Amino acid sequence: MTIIVPEPVLTVENNNHNNVESRNSHESEKVMEQGEERHDLKLDGGFIVPESNAFGISFTKKERKSGVQDFYRKNHINQTYEFARKKKEEYGKLEKAEMSIWECCELLNEYVYESDPDLDEPQIEHLLQTAESIRRDYPDQDWLHLTALIHDKSYAAHNPAFGEEPQWRVVGGTFPLGCAFDTAIVHHQYFKENPDHHNPGFNTKLGIYAENCGLDNVTMSWGHDEYMYTVAKGNNTTLPPAALFIIRFHSFCALHRAGAYTFLMNEDDKGMLKWLHVFNKYDLYSKSMVRINHEEVKPYNLSLIEKYFPSAKLKLKY
Ligand SMILES: [Fe+2]
Ligand SMILES: [Fe+2]
Repeated sequence: MTIIVPEPVLTVENNNHNNVESRNSHESEKVMEQGEERHDLKLDGGFIVPESNAFGISFTKKERKSGVQDFYRKNHINQTYEFARKKKEEYGKLEKAEMSIWECCELLNEYVYESDPDLDEPQIEHLLQTAESIRRDYPDQDWLHLTALIHDKSYAAHNPAFGEEPQWRVVGGTFPLGCAFDTAIVHHQYFKENPDHHNPGFNTKLGIYAENCGLDNVTMSWGHDEYMYTVAKGNNTTLPPAALFIIRFHSFCALHRAGAYTFLMNEDDKGMLKWLHVFNKYDLYSKSMVRINHEEVKPYNLSLIEKYFPSAKLKLKY
């Protein structure tokens, strides 16, 4: 089945990152500066430091900040090219679990994420709110509704049923490996302790890649984006390439917020990045919107799962 995905109509205001080619380093630095504090505490890709712990004891700003820094330190030191390749191979076998997309969404609710301040707002709410708000504004793009429903589903890697990966291997912004770490990556100073940073084969602008090789050929740091992409591909989804692009790169903040690494993109990537910008608007702002009646939207979502995962018979391998 071939799905024709039209060009998106972009209505987001104030985004110098809609046009990645218009990047100017001063502008992107400013964006990072303004955003750094905010995204330290509530970073795209799901890394969130709570206001208080499960017993209601508030963390001071200093404590939250040090928790964030500890997360970045572990993430930036340990995400190496070799590590990401190994994880891709391990999870690529899809031997961790077998369950329906809906069951997996519900599983996310059972597990308490220490890192999530919205304990009364289960993860499934975020997925449904993102999906429903996109459905309201883009009623004809049903592939985008399903993309929203599943994009964070492999947070499940954090769950004991999947391998109980620590947070730094699941959430947070992602970045290319096998080439130099861009300064646009939040807390890039921690990369100094990453062995790849000292590898002359990896620490140049292009590293192991050719200019405009296409993001499909790039090894990204391991996290829930790459895992869900692997699951979708491994279960023979018929979702269009733009959907897979969104799933795979929605936490690649250095690219879609600061316009870094555009030299790795090819023409196809540039077209799909426009859809990622559309998606991001809903992903970031869907929390704390109206509650969704799960049972009411379930039949529609099940029909999309059946449509775009026809060979999985509603059960997916993870
Ligand atoms: Fe995510
Ligand atoms: Fe999300």
